[in-house]
Amino acid sequence: MSESKKIGVTEVVLRDAHQSLLATRFRYHDMEAALKNLDDVGFWSVESWGGAIFDSCIRYLGEDPWHRIRKIKSMMPNTPQQMLLRGQNLLGYKHYSDDVVNKFVECSKENGVDVFRVFDALNDPRNMHQALQAVIGMDGHAQGTISYTTSPVHTVDLWVELAKKIQDMGAHSLAIKDMAGLLKPYVAFELVSRLKDELEIPVHMHCHATTGMSVATGVKAIEAGLDNIDTSISSMSMTYGHTPTETLISILDGTNRETGLDLEKLTPIAEHFQKVRKKYKNFEGSLRGVDARILASQVPGGMLTNLENQLKAQDSIDRFDEVISEIPKVREDLGFIPLVTPTSQIVGTQSVINILSGSRYSTVTNEVKSLLKGEYGATPAPVNKDLQQEGIGDSAVITCRPADVLTDDFQSVEDEFKQALFEKNITADASVENILIYAMFPEIGLNFLENVDNPDYFESEPLDIVELTDSSYLVTVDDQEYSVTLKADSTVTINDGSQVNQVAPTASIQTGSGEVIAAPLGGNIFRVIITEGESVDADSTILILEAMKMETEIKAPSAGVVGKIFVKPGDSVKPGTPLFEIVS
Ligand code: CO
Repeated sequence: MSESKKIGVTEVVLRDAHQSLLATRFRYHDMEAALKNLDDVGFWSVESWGGAIFDSCIRYLGEDPWHRIRKIKSMMPNTPQQMLLRGQNLLGYKHYSDDVVNKFVECSKENGVDVFRVFDALNDPRNMHQALQAVIGMDGHAQGTISYTTSPVHTVDLWVELAKKIQDMGAHSLAIKDMAGLLKPYVAFELVSRLKDELEIPVHMHCHATTGMSVATGVKAIEAGLDNIDTSISSMSMTYGHTPTETLISILDGTNRETGLDLEKLTPIAEHFQKVRKKYKNFEGSLRGVDARILASQVPGGMLTNLENQLKAQDSIDRFDEVISEIPKVREDLGFIPLVTPTSQIVGTQSVINILSGSRYSTVTNEVKSLLKGEYGATPAPVNKDLQQEGIGDSAVITCRPADVLTDDFQSVEDEFKQALFEKNITADASVENILIYAMFPEIGLNFLENVDNPDYFESEPLDIVELTDSSYLVTVDDQEYSVTLKADSTVTINDGSQVNQVAPTASIQTGSGEVIAAPLGGNIFRVIITEGESVDADSTILILEAMKMETEIKAPSAGVVGKIFVKPGDSVKPGTPLFEIVS
Protein backbone atom coordinates (compact mmCIF):
# COMPACT_ATOMS: atom_id res chain seq x y z
CA MET A 1 0.00 0.00 0.00
CA SER A 2 2.28 2.74 -1.19
CA GLU A 3 -0.22 5.19 -2.63
CA SER A 4 -2.25 7.24 -0.09
CA LYS A 5 -5.85 7.37 -1.21
CA LYS A 6 -9.08 7.43 0.84
CA ILE A 7 -11.48 4.57 0.22
CA GLY A 8 -15.08 5.64 -0.46
CA VAL A 9 -17.86 3.83 1.42
CA THR A 10 -21.38 3.07 0.21
CA GLU A 11 -23.75 2.27 3.11
CA VAL A 12 -26.42 -0.27 2.08
CA VAL A 13 -28.69 -0.45 5.17
CA LEU A 14 -31.63 1.23 3.43
CA ARG A 15 -31.73 -1.29 0.54
CA ASP A 16 -29.65 -4.43 0.30
CA ALA A 17 -29.13 -5.04 4.03
CA HIS A 18 -32.85 -5.49 4.74
CA GLN A 19 -33.42 -7.10 1.32
CA SER A 20 -30.89 -9.79 2.24
CA LEU A 21 -31.63 -10.13 5.97
CA LEU A 22 -35.36 -9.37 6.25
CA ALA A 23 -36.89 -10.11 2.82
CA THR A 24 -37.01 -6.36 1.91
CA ARG A 25 -39.61 -5.52 4.54
CA PHE A 26 -38.39 -2.24 6.12
CA ARG A 27 -41.04 0.44 5.94
CA TYR A 28 -40.05 4.06 5.33
CA HIS A 29 -41.19 5.26 8.75
CA ASP A 30 -38.84 2.75 10.40
CA MET A 31 -35.87 4.33 8.58
CA GLU A 32 -36.80 7.99 8.93
CA ALA A 33 -35.30 8.63 12.37
CA ALA A 34 -31.85 7.49 11.15
CA LEU A 35 -31.72 9.48 7.90
CA LYS A 36 -30.30 12.72 9.31
CA ASN A 37 -27.54 10.79 11.10
CA LEU A 38 -26.76 8.80 7.95
CA ASP A 39 -26.55 12.04 5.99
CA ASP A 40 -23.93 13.44 8.41
CA VAL A 41 -21.45 10.54 8.08
CA GLY A 42 -19.90 11.46 4.73
CA PHE A 43 -20.60 8.27 2.78
CA TRP A 44 -19.63 8.15 -0.90
CA SER A 45 -23.29 7.15 -1.39
CA VAL A 46 -26.17 5.48 0.44
CA GLU A 47 -27.96 2.69 -1.37
CA SER A 48 -31.64 3.29 -0.74
CA TRP A 49 -33.69 2.20 -3.73
CA GLY A 50 -34.05 -0.31 -6.54
CA GLY A 51 -33.43 -4.04 -6.29
CA ALA A 52 -36.53 -5.58 -4.70
CA ILE A 53 -37.63 -2.37 -2.90
CA PHE A 54 -40.08 -1.32 -5.61
CA ASP A 55 -41.70 -4.75 -5.81
CA SER A 56 -41.89 -5.12 -2.01
CA CYS A 57 -43.43 -1.65 -1.60
CA ILE A 58 -46.32 -2.30 -3.97
CA ARG A 59 -46.77 -6.04 -3.31
CA TYR A 60 -46.51 -6.25 0.47
CA LEU A 61 -46.17 -2.86 2.15
CA GLY A 62 -48.75 -0.71 0.36
CA GLU A 63 -46.16 2.06 0.14
CA ASP A 64 -45.58 4.20 -2.97
CA PRO A 65 -41.93 3.50 -3.94
CA TRP A 66 -41.61 6.88 -5.70
CA HIS A 67 -42.78 8.61 -2.56
CA ARG A 68 -40.14 6.70 -0.58
CA ILE A 69 -37.16 7.86 -2.67
CA ARG A 70 -38.45 11.45 -2.70
CA LYS A 71 -38.69 11.49 1.09
CA ILE A 72 -35.28 9.87 1.60
CA LYS A 73 -33.69 12.32 -0.82
CA SER A 74 -35.26 15.32 0.91
CA MET A 75 -34.05 14.08 4.33
CA MET A 76 -30.47 13.51 3.07
CA PRO A 77 -29.41 16.54 1.04
CA ASN A 78 -25.65 15.87 1.46
CA THR A 79 -25.44 12.24 0.36
CA PRO A 80 -25.80 10.79 -3.15
CA GLN A 81 -28.66 8.28 -3.31
CA GLN A 82 -27.85 5.04 -5.08
CA MET A 83 -30.12 2.48 -6.69
CA LEU A 84 -29.65 -1.01 -8.12
CA LEU A 85 -31.08 -1.28 -11.63
CA ARG A 86 -31.38 -4.52 -13.60
CA GLY A 87 -30.43 -3.01 -16.96
CA GLN A 88 -33.08 -3.58 -19.61
CA ASN A 89 -35.23 -5.40 -16.98
CA LEU A 90 -35.47 -2.19 -14.88
CA LEU A 91 -37.02 -3.44 -11.62
CA GLY A 92 -39.31 -6.00 -13.21
CA TYR A 93 -38.70 -9.48 -14.52
CA LYS A 94 -38.59 -9.05 -18.31
CA HIS A 95 -37.04 -6.71 -20.87
CA TYR A 96 -38.62 -3.35 -21.58
CA SER A 97 -38.34 -1.24 -24.70
CA ASP A 98 -35.65 1.44 -24.88
CA ASP A 99 -38.09 4.33 -24.44
CA VAL A 100 -39.55 2.72 -21.28
CA VAL A 101 -35.97 2.36 -19.98
CA ASN A 102 -35.31 6.04 -20.78
CA LYS A 103 -38.52 7.17 -19.04
CA PHE A 104 -37.73 5.09 -15.98
CA VAL A 105 -34.20 6.48 -15.62
CA GLU A 106 -35.41 10.04 -16.21
CA CYS A 107 -38.18 9.68 -13.64
CA SER A 108 -35.86 8.02 -11.08
CA LYS A 109 -33.30 10.82 -11.47
CA GLU A 110 -35.99 13.46 -11.06
CA ASN A 111 -37.34 11.73 -7.94
CA GLY A 112 -33.91 11.68 -6.26
CA VAL A 113 -31.63 8.87 -7.51
CA ASP A 114 -28.04 10.05 -8.18
CA VAL A 115 -26.01 6.85 -8.68
CA PHE A 116 -27.35 4.05 -10.87
CA ARG A 117 -25.66 0.66 -10.49
CA VAL A 118 -26.68 -1.11 -13.68
CA PHE A 119 -26.29 -4.86 -14.03
CA ASP A 120 -27.53 -7.70 -16.20
CA ALA A 121 -28.23 -11.13 -14.79
CA LEU A 122 -26.47 -12.84 -17.70
CA ASN A 123 -23.62 -10.27 -17.83
CA ASP A 124 -24.70 -9.53 -21.41
CA PRO A 125 -23.42 -5.95 -22.00
CA ARG A 126 -26.11 -5.37 -24.65
CA ASN A 127 -28.65 -5.50 -21.81
CA MET A 128 -26.85 -2.76 -19.80
CA HIS A 129 -26.23 -0.44 -22.73
CA GLN A 130 -29.49 1.52 -22.93
CA ALA A 131 -29.80 2.08 -19.16
CA LEU A 132 -26.20 3.34 -18.98
CA GLN A 133 -26.80 5.72 -21.92
CA ALA A 134 -29.99 7.03 -20.30
CA VAL A 135 -28.18 7.71 -16.99
CA ILE A 136 -25.33 9.47 -18.81
CA GLY A 137 -27.92 11.56 -20.68
CA MET A 138 -29.54 12.61 -17.40
CA ASP A 139 -26.18 13.58 -15.82
CA GLY A 140 -26.45 10.78 -13.27
CA HIS A 141 -23.54 8.58 -12.19
CA ALA A 142 -23.61 5.52 -14.47
CA GLN A 143 -22.01 2.49 -12.85
CA GLY A 144 -21.72 -0.69 -14.92
CA THR A 145 -21.49 -4.05 -13.18
CA ILE A 146 -19.78 -7.42 -13.29
CA SER A 147 -22.10 -9.93 -11.59
CA TYR A 148 -19.40 -12.18 -10.19
CA THR A 149 -19.82 -15.91 -10.39
CA THR A 150 -17.62 -18.96 -10.77
CA SER A 151 -17.83 -21.69 -13.40
CA PRO A 152 -15.50 -23.40 -15.85
CA VAL A 153 -16.05 -20.50 -18.30
CA HIS A 154 -15.62 -17.58 -15.84
CA THR A 155 -11.92 -16.56 -15.76
CA VAL A 156 -10.19 -13.30 -14.72
CA ASP A 157 -9.56 -12.62 -18.44
CA LEU A 158 -13.29 -12.90 -19.14
CA TRP A 159 -14.06 -10.39 -16.37
CA VAL A 160 -11.45 -7.91 -17.63
CA GLU A 161 -12.85 -8.17 -21.16
CA LEU A 162 -16.40 -7.51 -19.86
CA ALA A 163 -15.14 -4.57 -17.74
CA LYS A 164 -13.52 -2.98 -20.81
CA LYS A 165 -16.78 -3.28 -22.76
CA ILE A 166 -18.56 -1.56 -19.86
CA GLN A 167 -15.98 1.24 -19.84
CA ASP A 168 -16.33 1.60 -23.63
CA MET A 169 -20.09 2.13 -23.19
CA GLY A 170 -19.25 5.29 -21.22
CA ALA A 171 -19.79 4.04 -17.64
CA HIS A 172 -18.38 6.39 -14.96
CA SER A 173 -17.32 3.50 -12.74
CA LEU A 174 -17.36 -0.30 -12.53
CA ALA A 175 -18.85 -2.41 -9.73
CA ILE A 176 -17.86 -5.97 -8.91
CA LYS A 177 -21.07 -7.42 -7.52
CA ASP A 178 -20.39 -10.58 -5.50
CA MET A 179 -23.96 -11.44 -4.53
CA ALA A 180 -23.20 -14.95 -3.27
CA GLY A 181 -19.98 -14.21 -1.34
CA LEU A 182 -17.95 -16.35 -3.74
CA LEU A 183 -15.12 -13.94 -4.46
CA LYS A 184 -12.06 -15.28 -2.64
CA PRO A 185 -9.62 -12.74 -1.14
CA TYR A 186 -6.63 -13.63 -3.29
CA VAL A 187 -8.74 -13.88 -6.44
CA ALA A 188 -10.11 -10.42 -5.59
CA PHE A 189 -6.54 -9.13 -5.28
CA GLU A 190 -5.72 -10.48 -8.74
CA LEU A 191 -8.99 -9.29 -10.28
CA VAL A 192 -8.82 -5.75 -8.87
CA SER A 193 -5.09 -5.45 -9.73
CA ARG A 194 -5.87 -6.39 -13.34
CA LEU A 195 -8.86 -4.02 -13.50
CA LYS A 196 -6.85 -1.12 -12.03
CA ASP A 197 -4.12 -1.77 -14.63
CA GLU A 198 -6.43 -1.96 -17.59
CA LEU A 199 -9.29 0.49 -16.79
CA GLU A 200 -9.40 4.26 -16.49
CA ILE A 201 -12.62 4.34 -14.41
CA PRO A 202 -12.86 3.73 -10.62
CA VAL A 203 -13.65 0.23 -9.33
CA HIS A 204 -16.24 -0.50 -6.59
CA MET A 205 -16.92 -3.73 -4.78
CA HIS A 206 -20.07 -5.25 -3.28
CA CYS A 207 -19.63 -8.55 -1.38
CA HIS A 208 -22.07 -10.61 0.65
CA ALA A 209 -20.79 -12.06 3.93
CA THR A 210 -22.63 -15.38 3.69
CA THR A 211 -19.50 -17.50 3.21
CA GLY A 212 -17.47 -15.55 5.77
CA MET A 213 -14.98 -14.21 3.21
CA SER A 214 -16.27 -10.66 2.65
CA VAL A 215 -14.06 -8.83 5.18
CA ALA A 216 -10.86 -10.48 3.93
CA THR A 217 -11.93 -10.04 0.32
CA GLY A 218 -12.57 -6.33 0.89
CA VAL A 219 -9.18 -5.81 2.51
CA LYS A 220 -7.30 -7.62 -0.28
CA ALA A 221 -9.25 -5.67 -2.93
CA ILE A 222 -8.37 -2.41 -1.15
CA GLU A 223 -4.70 -3.44 -1.08
CA ALA A 224 -4.97 -3.95 -4.84
CA GLY A 225 -6.21 -0.36 -5.28
CA LEU A 226 -10.02 -0.62 -5.02
CA ASP A 227 -11.67 2.84 -5.04
CA ASN A 228 -14.99 2.28 -3.23
CA ILE A 229 -16.63 -0.46 -1.20
CA ASP A 230 -20.14 -1.34 0.02
CA THR A 231 -20.71 -2.04 3.73
CA SER A 232 -23.67 -2.10 6.11
CA ILE A 233 -24.14 -0.70 9.60
CA SER A 234 -23.07 -3.35 12.18
CA SER A 235 -26.53 -4.13 13.58
CA MET A 236 -27.69 -4.99 10.04
CA SER A 237 -24.57 -6.81 8.81
CA MET A 238 -23.04 -10.27 8.17
CA THR A 239 -24.77 -13.63 7.53
CA TYR A 240 -26.81 -13.02 4.35
CA GLY A 241 -25.76 -9.33 4.40
CA HIS A 242 -22.48 -7.43 4.17
CA THR A 243 -19.26 -6.49 5.97
CA PRO A 244 -20.03 -4.14 8.91
CA THR A 245 -19.25 -0.49 8.19
CA GLU A 246 -17.63 0.04 11.61
CA THR A 247 -15.37 -3.03 11.16
CA LEU A 248 -14.04 -1.77 7.84
CA ILE A 249 -13.43 1.71 9.26
CA SER A 250 -11.45 0.21 12.16
CA ILE A 251 -9.40 -2.14 9.97
CA LEU A 252 -8.26 0.75 7.77
CA ASP A 253 -7.80 3.27 10.57
CA GLY A 254 -4.24 4.65 10.56
CA THR A 255 -3.37 3.18 7.15
CA ASN A 256 -2.94 5.07 3.89
CA ARG A 257 -6.34 3.75 2.75
CA GLU A 258 -8.47 5.02 5.65
CA THR A 259 -12.12 5.92 5.12
CA GLY A 260 -12.07 9.33 6.83
CA LEU A 261 -15.37 8.37 8.52
CA ASP A 262 -15.99 8.94 12.24
CA LEU A 263 -16.97 5.78 14.17
CA GLU A 264 -18.85 7.77 16.79
CA LYS A 265 -21.30 9.07 14.22
CA LEU A 266 -22.28 5.48 13.44
CA THR A 267 -23.27 4.51 17.02
CA PRO A 268 -26.77 6.04 17.02
CA ILE A 269 -27.45 4.59 13.57
CA ALA A 270 -26.45 1.09 14.72
CA GLU A 271 -28.64 1.44 17.83
CA HIS A 272 -31.62 2.60 15.77
CA PHE A 273 -31.50 -0.36 13.38
CA GLN A 274 -30.83 -2.83 16.18
CA LYS A 275 -34.23 -1.83 17.62
CA VAL A 276 -36.03 -1.78 14.28
CA ARG A 277 -34.66 -5.19 13.31
CA LYS A 278 -36.42 -6.89 16.27
CA LYS A 279 -39.78 -5.87 14.88
CA TYR A 280 -39.10 -7.79 11.67
CA LYS A 281 -37.80 -10.95 13.32
CA ASN A 282 -40.36 -13.17 11.54
CA PHE A 283 -38.54 -12.41 8.29
CA GLU A 284 -35.10 -13.45 9.56
CA GLY A 285 -33.46 -16.44 7.88
CA SER A 286 -32.13 -19.28 10.01
CA LEU A 287 -28.44 -18.67 9.32
CA ARG A 288 -26.51 -17.66 12.44
CA GLY A 289 -22.86 -17.69 11.31
CA VAL A 290 -21.52 -18.74 7.95
CA ASP A 291 -23.05 -21.04 5.37
CA ALA A 292 -20.18 -22.87 3.72
CA ARG A 293 -22.58 -24.87 1.50
CA ILE A 294 -22.83 -21.75 -0.63
CA LEU A 295 -19.28 -22.31 -1.81
CA ALA A 296 -20.64 -25.35 -3.64
CA SER A 297 -24.19 -24.18 -4.48
CA GLN A 298 -23.50 -20.48 -5.36
CA VAL A 299 -26.84 -19.42 -3.87
CA PRO A 300 -26.90 -15.68 -2.97
CA GLY A 301 -27.98 -14.54 0.50
CA GLY A 302 -31.24 -12.88 -0.55
CA MET A 303 -32.19 -15.97 -2.52
CA LEU A 304 -31.56 -18.25 0.49
CA THR A 305 -33.93 -16.28 2.75
CA ASN A 306 -36.54 -16.12 0.00
CA LEU A 307 -36.29 -19.87 -0.66
CA GLU A 308 -36.64 -20.55 3.05
CA ASN A 309 -39.72 -18.35 3.32
CA GLN A 310 -41.24 -19.83 0.16
CA LEU A 311 -40.61 -23.42 1.23
CA LYS A 312 -42.14 -22.62 4.63
CA ALA A 313 -45.20 -21.24 2.82
CA GLN A 314 -45.32 -24.48 0.79
CA ASP A 315 -45.11 -26.54 4.02
CA SER A 316 -41.94 -28.08 2.56
CA ILE A 317 -39.07 -26.60 4.55
CA ASP A 318 -37.79 -30.17 5.11
CA ARG A 319 -36.87 -30.29 1.37
CA PHE A 320 -34.57 -27.23 1.69
CA ASP A 321 -31.29 -29.18 1.41
CA GLU A 322 -32.52 -31.09 -1.66
CA VAL A 323 -33.51 -27.83 -3.36
CA ILE A 324 -30.08 -26.34 -2.59
CA SER A 325 -28.33 -29.31 -4.22
CA GLU A 326 -30.62 -29.12 -7.27
CA ILE A 327 -29.72 -25.47 -7.97
CA PRO A 328 -26.18 -26.05 -9.41
CA LYS A 329 -27.60 -28.73 -11.74
CA VAL A 330 -30.30 -26.43 -13.10
CA ARG A 331 -27.74 -23.65 -13.41
CA GLU A 332 -25.43 -25.82 -15.50
CA ASP A 333 -28.37 -26.83 -17.75
CA LEU A 334 -29.02 -23.11 -18.29
CA GLY A 335 -25.45 -22.27 -19.41
CA PHE A 336 -23.81 -21.41 -16.05
CA ILE A 337 -25.81 -18.20 -15.67
CA PRO A 338 -24.96 -16.11 -12.59
CA LEU A 339 -27.56 -16.32 -9.82
CA VAL A 340 -28.91 -12.82 -9.32
CA THR A 341 -32.38 -11.31 -9.82
CA PRO A 342 -34.17 -12.45 -11.94
CA THR A 343 -32.07 -15.53 -12.81
CA SER A 344 -31.90 -16.51 -9.13
CA GLN A 345 -35.72 -16.71 -9.01
CA ILE A 346 -35.85 -18.55 -12.33
CA VAL A 347 -33.30 -21.16 -11.26
CA GLY A 348 -34.69 -21.26 -7.70
CA THR A 349 -38.30 -21.83 -8.77
CA GLN A 350 -37.39 -24.48 -11.35
CA SER A 351 -35.28 -26.24 -8.70
CA VAL A 352 -38.19 -26.16 -6.23
CA ILE A 353 -40.52 -27.59 -8.90
CA ASN A 354 -37.98 -30.29 -9.86
CA ILE A 355 -37.77 -31.42 -6.22
CA LEU A 356 -41.36 -30.99 -5.01
CA SER A 357 -42.92 -32.54 -8.12
CA GLY A 358 -40.58 -35.51 -7.81
CA SER A 359 -39.57 -35.42 -11.48
CA ARG A 360 -37.04 -33.09 -13.13
CA TYR A 361 -38.46 -30.69 -15.75
CA SER A 362 -41.86 -32.42 -15.92
CA THR A 363 -43.10 -28.85 -15.48
CA VAL A 364 -40.93 -26.12 -17.01
CA THR A 365 -41.71 -22.51 -16.06
CA ASN A 366 -42.36 -19.95 -18.82
CA GLU A 367 -39.29 -18.04 -17.63
CA VAL A 368 -37.01 -21.06 -18.15
CA LYS A 369 -38.51 -21.44 -21.64
CA SER A 370 -37.76 -17.75 -22.36
CA LEU A 371 -34.20 -18.25 -21.20
CA LEU A 372 -33.82 -21.31 -23.44
CA LYS A 373 -35.17 -19.20 -26.33
CA GLY A 374 -32.52 -16.53 -25.79
CA GLU A 375 -35.07 -13.93 -24.73
CA TYR A 376 -32.94 -12.87 -21.74
CA GLY A 377 -29.73 -12.56 -23.76
CA ALA A 378 -26.64 -14.68 -24.34
CA THR A 379 -25.83 -17.23 -21.63
CA PRO A 380 -22.16 -17.54 -20.54
CA ALA A 381 -22.02 -21.13 -21.88
CA PRO A 382 -24.41 -23.03 -24.19
CA VAL A 383 -27.59 -24.35 -22.57
CA ASN A 384 -28.39 -28.08 -22.33
CA LYS A 385 -29.59 -28.96 -25.86
CA ASP A 386 -31.93 -31.75 -24.72
CA LEU A 387 -33.63 -29.46 -22.25
CA GLN A 388 -33.83 -26.74 -24.93
CA GLN A 389 -35.50 -29.17 -27.34
CA GLU A 390 -37.88 -30.37 -24.64
CA GLY A 391 -38.68 -26.83 -23.45
CA ILE A 392 -39.14 -24.91 -26.70
CA GLY A 393 -39.19 -27.57 -29.44
CA ASP A 394 -38.17 -26.16 -32.80
CA SER A 395 -39.01 -22.50 -32.14
CA ALA A 396 -36.34 -20.05 -33.23
CA VAL A 397 -33.66 -18.95 -30.75
CA ILE A 398 -33.02 -15.20 -30.49
CA THR A 399 -29.41 -14.15 -31.02
CA CYS A 400 -29.77 -10.34 -31.44
CA ARG A 401 -30.06 -7.89 -28.51
CA PRO A 402 -33.31 -9.12 -26.88
CA ALA A 403 -34.83 -5.61 -26.63
CA ASP A 404 -34.58 -5.24 -30.43
CA VAL A 405 -37.46 -7.66 -30.97
CA LEU A 406 -39.86 -5.94 -28.55
CA THR A 407 -42.96 -4.38 -30.07
CA ASP A 408 -44.36 -2.50 -27.02
CA ASP A 409 -43.31 1.08 -26.41
CA PHE A 410 -44.06 3.62 -23.68
CA GLN A 411 -47.08 4.99 -25.57
CA SER A 412 -48.67 1.54 -25.91
CA VAL A 413 -48.10 0.85 -22.20
CA GLU A 414 -49.65 4.23 -21.34
CA ASP A 415 -52.73 3.53 -23.50
CA GLU A 416 -53.14 0.08 -21.98
CA PHE A 417 -52.78 1.52 -18.46
CA LYS A 418 -55.44 4.20 -19.05
CA GLN A 419 -57.76 1.58 -20.48
CA ALA A 420 -57.21 -0.66 -17.43
CA LEU A 421 -57.88 2.24 -15.02
CA PHE A 422 -61.11 2.96 -16.87
CA GLU A 423 -62.27 -0.67 -17.01
CA LYS A 424 -61.51 -1.36 -13.36
CA ASN A 425 -62.80 2.03 -12.27
CA ILE A 426 -59.57 2.90 -10.45
CA THR A 427 -59.09 6.57 -9.57
CA ALA A 428 -55.30 6.80 -9.95
CA ASP A 429 -53.44 9.49 -11.92
CA ALA A 430 -52.00 8.49 -15.26
CA SER A 431 -48.68 10.04 -14.10
CA VAL A 432 -45.39 8.79 -15.55
CA GLU A 433 -44.62 7.28 -12.11
CA ASN A 434 -47.86 5.28 -12.11
CA ILE A 435 -47.46 4.23 -15.75
CA LEU A 436 -44.03 2.85 -14.83
CA ILE A 437 -45.51 0.95 -11.86
CA TYR A 438 -47.97 -0.61 -14.32
CA ALA A 439 -45.29 -1.23 -16.99
CA MET A 440 -43.18 -3.29 -14.59
CA PHE A 441 -45.95 -4.92 -12.52
CA PRO A 442 -49.21 -4.96 -14.51
CA GLU A 443 -51.39 -7.05 -12.15
CA ILE A 444 -49.77 -6.21 -8.83
CA GLY A 445 -49.33 -2.57 -9.84
CA LEU A 446 -53.06 -2.17 -10.58
CA ASN A 447 -53.97 -3.89 -7.31
CA PHE A 448 -51.61 -1.53 -5.51
CA LEU A 449 -53.10 1.58 -7.14
CA GLU A 450 -56.62 0.35 -6.44
CA ASN A 451 -55.89 -0.32 -2.76
CA VAL A 452 -53.35 2.37 -1.93
CA ASP A 453 -55.74 3.91 0.62
CA ASN A 454 -56.79 0.54 2.00
CA PRO A 455 -54.04 -0.75 4.34
CA ASP A 456 -56.02 -3.93 5.07
CA TYR A 457 -55.28 -5.13 1.54
CA PHE A 458 -51.52 -5.35 2.24
CA GLU A 459 -49.38 -7.35 4.62
CA SER A 460 -50.10 -6.12 8.14
CA GLU A 461 -47.26 -4.25 9.77
CA PRO A 462 -45.34 -6.36 12.30
CA LEU A 463 -46.01 -5.36 15.90
CA ASP A 464 -43.35 -3.42 17.71
CA ILE A 465 -42.55 -5.99 20.40
CA VAL A 466 -40.28 -5.64 23.43
CA GLU A 467 -39.70 -8.88 25.33
CA LEU A 468 -40.27 -8.41 29.09
CA THR A 469 -39.85 -12.01 30.32
CA ASP A 470 -39.88 -15.46 28.68
CA SER A 471 -43.63 -15.44 28.11
CA SER A 472 -44.54 -11.78 28.55
CA TYR A 473 -44.18 -9.09 25.87
CA LEU A 474 -44.84 -5.37 25.48
CA VAL A 475 -46.68 -4.80 22.19
CA THR A 476 -47.16 -1.38 20.60
CA VAL A 477 -50.11 -0.84 18.27
CA ASP A 478 -50.71 2.71 16.98
CA ASP A 479 -48.56 4.16 19.79
CA GLN A 480 -50.66 2.35 22.42
CA GLU A 481 -48.70 -0.15 24.55
CA TYR A 482 -50.19 -3.50 25.59
CA SER A 483 -48.62 -6.16 27.78
CA VAL A 484 -49.23 -9.61 26.35
CA THR A 485 -48.77 -13.00 28.05
CA LEU A 486 -48.34 -16.23 26.08
CA LYS A 487 -49.79 -19.30 27.85
CA ALA A 488 -48.73 -22.92 27.42
CA ASP A 489 -52.06 -23.88 25.78
CA SER A 490 -51.20 -21.51 22.87
CA THR A 491 -53.91 -19.01 23.71
CA VAL A 492 -52.91 -15.37 23.77
CA THR A 493 -54.24 -13.12 26.53
CA ILE A 494 -54.24 -9.37 25.95
CA ASN A 495 -54.36 -7.09 28.99
CA ASP A 496 -57.94 -5.96 28.26
CA GLY A 497 -59.02 -9.55 29.02
CA SER A 498 -59.92 -10.57 25.46
CA GLN A 499 -58.56 -13.92 24.37
CA VAL A 500 -57.57 -15.20 20.95
CA ASN A 501 -57.38 -18.91 20.20
CA GLN A 502 -54.95 -20.07 17.57
CA VAL A 503 -56.87 -22.44 15.33
CA ALA A 504 -55.14 -24.66 12.78
CA PRO A 505 -56.73 -24.16 9.36
CA THR A 506 -58.32 -27.22 7.77
CA ALA A 507 -59.67 -27.69 4.25
CA SER A 508 -61.52 -30.43 2.43
CA ILE A 509 -62.72 -30.41 -1.14
CA GLN A 510 -65.17 -32.84 -2.76
CA THR A 511 -63.82 -34.21 -6.01
CA GLY A 512 -65.55 -35.85 -8.96
CA SER A 513 -64.73 -39.09 -10.75
CA GLY A 514 -61.73 -38.13 -12.96
CA GLU A 515 -58.02 -37.81 -12.25
CA VAL A 516 -57.50 -34.83 -10.01
CA ILE A 517 -54.49 -32.61 -10.72
CA ALA A 518 -53.15 -30.84 -7.66
CA ALA A 519 -51.01 -27.70 -7.36
CA PRO A 520 -47.29 -28.63 -7.39
CA LEU A 521 -46.51 -25.36 -5.57
CA GLY A 522 -48.39 -22.87 -3.45
CA GLY A 523 -49.25 -19.60 -5.20
CA ASN A 524 -52.03 -17.73 -6.95
CA ILE A 525 -54.10 -18.81 -9.94
CA PHE A 526 -53.10 -16.37 -12.63
CA ARG A 527 -55.25 -17.51 -15.56
CA VAL A 528 -57.60 -20.40 -16.37
CA ILE A 529 -57.32 -21.15 -20.08
CA ILE A 530 -59.72 -24.08 -20.60
CA THR A 531 -63.36 -24.28 -19.54
CA GLU A 532 -65.15 -27.26 -17.98
CA GLY A 533 -66.31 -29.83 -20.54
CA GLU A 534 -63.66 -29.03 -23.13
CA SER A 535 -61.66 -31.88 -24.70
CA VAL A 536 -57.91 -31.56 -24.39
CA ASP A 537 -54.80 -33.38 -25.57
CA ALA A 538 -52.09 -34.62 -23.25
CA ASP A 539 -49.79 -31.67 -22.38
CA SER A 540 -52.43 -28.99 -23.10
CA THR A 541 -52.05 -26.07 -20.73
CA ILE A 542 -55.13 -25.90 -18.51
CA LEU A 543 -54.21 -23.02 -16.25
CA ILE A 544 -51.33 -20.81 -15.18
CA LEU A 545 -50.21 -20.69 -11.58
CA GLU A 546 -48.16 -17.78 -10.36
CA ALA A 547 -45.83 -19.20 -7.72
CA MET A 548 -42.73 -17.57 -6.27
CA LYS A 549 -43.22 -14.66 -8.71
CA MET A 550 -42.96 -17.03 -11.70
CA GLU A 551 -45.68 -18.20 -14.08
CA THR A 552 -45.99 -21.97 -14.20
CA GLU A 553 -48.19 -23.71 -16.79
CA ILE A 554 -50.19 -26.58 -15.35
CA LYS A 555 -50.89 -29.14 -18.06
CA ALA A 556 -53.22 -32.07 -18.63
CA PRO A 557 -51.26 -35.28 -17.86
CA SER A 558 -53.33 -37.22 -20.44
CA ALA A 559 -55.91 -36.59 -23.15
CA GLY A 560 -59.53 -36.37 -22.02
CA VAL A 561 -62.29 -34.00 -21.04
CA VAL A 562 -61.76 -31.33 -18.43
CA GLY A 563 -64.17 -32.14 -15.62
CA LYS A 564 -64.53 -29.87 -12.66
CA ILE A 565 -62.18 -26.87 -12.32
CA PHE A 566 -61.83 -26.21 -8.61
CA VAL A 567 -60.15 -22.80 -8.80
CA LYS A 568 -60.61 -19.40 -10.43
CA PRO A 569 -58.19 -16.58 -11.26
CA GLY A 570 -56.97 -14.83 -8.12
CA ASP A 571 -57.46 -17.88 -5.84
CA SER A 572 -54.51 -18.69 -3.65
CA VAL A 573 -53.61 -22.37 -3.45
CA LYS A 574 -51.33 -24.53 -1.35
CA PRO A 575 -49.26 -27.47 -2.63
CA GLY A 576 -51.69 -30.35 -3.02
CA THR A 577 -54.77 -28.15 -3.51
CA PRO A 578 -56.93 -29.80 -6.25
CA LEU A 579 -56.89 -27.61 -9.39
CA PHE A 580 -58.94 -29.52 -11.97
CA GLU A 581 -59.89 -33.03 -13.02
CA ILE A 582 -59.40 -34.82 -16.33
CA VAL A 583 -61.97 -37.44 -17.23
CA SER A 584 -60.68 -39.89 -19.84
CO1 CO B 1 -26.29 -7.49 -2.76
